[in-house]
Amino acid sequence: MKCKETAIFLMQGVSVNILKNEGPRAEKDTDTEKLDKERSIFGKHIDKRKKIIKNKNVLQTSYLPDVLPHRSNDIDKIAEIIASAFDGDRPSNIMIFGKTGTGKTAVMNFIGNELKKEDPQGSSCVYIYINCEVVDTKYSTLQNIGNQIIDDFEKRIPFTGWGIDKVYSEMRNSIDEQNKVFVVVLDEIDKLVSKSGDDVLYQLTKINEDLKHSKLSLIGISNNLNFTEFLDPRVKSRLSEEKMIFHQYDAQQLTDILRNRARFAFEDGGLEEGVIPLCAAMSAQEMGDARMALDLLRIAAETAERNGETTVAEAHVKSAKNKIELDTVSETVKMLTKQSKTVLMSVIHNTKEKNKTMTTGEVYSTYGDLCDILGITSLTQRRVTDLISELDMLGIVHARTISLGRHGRTKKIELSIPKEICDMLEDDENMKLIKNYRSPKQQRLPFNEDNR
Ligand SMILES: Nc1ncnc2c1ncn2[C@@H]1O[C@H](COP(=O)(O)OP(=O)(O)OP(=O)(O)O)[C@@H](O)[C@H]1O
Ligand SMILES: [Mg+2]
Repeated sequence: MKCKETAIFLMQGVSVNILKNEGPRAEKDTDTEKLDKERSIFGKHIDKRKKIIKNKNVLQTSYLPDVLPHRSNDIDKIAEIIASAFDGDRPSNIMIFGKTGTGKTAVMNFIGNELKKEDPQGSSCVYIYINCEVVDTKYSTLQNIGNQIIDDFEKRIPFTGWGIDKVYSEMRNSIDEQNKVFVVVLDEIDKLVSKSGDDVLYQLTKINEDLKHSKLSLIGISNNLNFTEFLDPRVKSRLSEEKMIFHQYDAQQLTDILRNRARFAFEDGGLEEGVIPLCAAMSAQEMGDARMALDLLRIAAETAERNGETTVAEAHVKSAKNKIELDTVSETVKMLTKQSKTVLMSVIHNTKEKNKTMTTGEVYSTYGDLCDILGITSLTQRRVTDLISELDMLGIVHARTISLGRHGRTKKIELSIPKEICDMLEDDENMKLIKNYRSPKQQRLPFNEDNR
């Protein structure tokens, strides 16, 4: 048989039967095997997935819905302030505060879209959005504002290399040439100040004195309510001509927000009755954070789909909550310094070897041994006590001070992280050497499960 003919037979699924002269059952089995081999490694997972989510994009936190329930009053207030730009006036500067997930960024993106609807060519009012988590220096802030205005690529301000005065005057000139009102949003403005000080805000809040034709108004957003306390008083008062606070959502509000998204995200009947109220209640209890509520719903739905189920149930929400918590703790532990990781490893070893709770002295003694093995300098007991307090604040250990009468005070320390995280830390590149450490006293004991 020529190659071409063989290929045709193979495609028809009969060649094996003819060549080996086997019965119909063998033909079927071989065909199934062949089909399995032909599918990629994703095949069986794709087949298992039942479709619950119609449009996953709607559940992503970056998605901006058409309506933002429970923020219409705030949106209206901001719109009223900005509307003065269409009479050529400078809108008051606004400072918006609110805890994480209260919709600050979503509201400003919504306002930006509405402004573009009202003035598509930007002939009266131009909206400029800057995320100060990324753009966090004086140079990059001025450069970024300037380059969002300068159309001619050749004339754009370079990423580095110019003196700051030249960057400022280029930006200011490009603003003033246009005879418009510029609304500049500085999202996460506290990050800019903590990285680079309030110099750039001083310049930007004062810029209108240098402008002859155009006007600039600032909207600062922060989830740190105390942030303006650290500003120069002149900057503080200019920036907060209007001040707004976005309050945390309660369970009912989060339910409305989720229901609104779920209509577009899920197939009919994809969610069991209690799922949205449970996501809302869990998030309201923590921080009233809409991002967390959306994450819970998305992860719960993904889990259900992955398991090949046809609806999302409350159990999926509970497991989503565990997953989010575990991810958060594991990120926190990964970010610790080597010293803090070593202190934490000492707590883990003491927990394994002896008891549920331990004293600072016991942790410090193990810590000394671990530092020797790792070849790092050991800190003083006082400093290690501080590190234990930091771990306590992060929720990684639980430490309470107890009085020993005339012998002073000590801390009783207890591990607060699950076994999965301890295992992860033990496998950390920097901690591997001490993974199998056992205290000298333990080494003398016959090893059994009870003294682990
Ligand atoms: N009222 C709302 N309606 C619909 N979705 C909302 C609403 N409020 C927040 N969200 C959604 O919740 C998520 C988090 O919101 P957002 O990013 O605006 O929070 P934030 O206040 O800026 O938080 P952070 O301080 O952490 O930056 C986004 O996906 C956003 O679309
Ligand atoms: Mg935000």
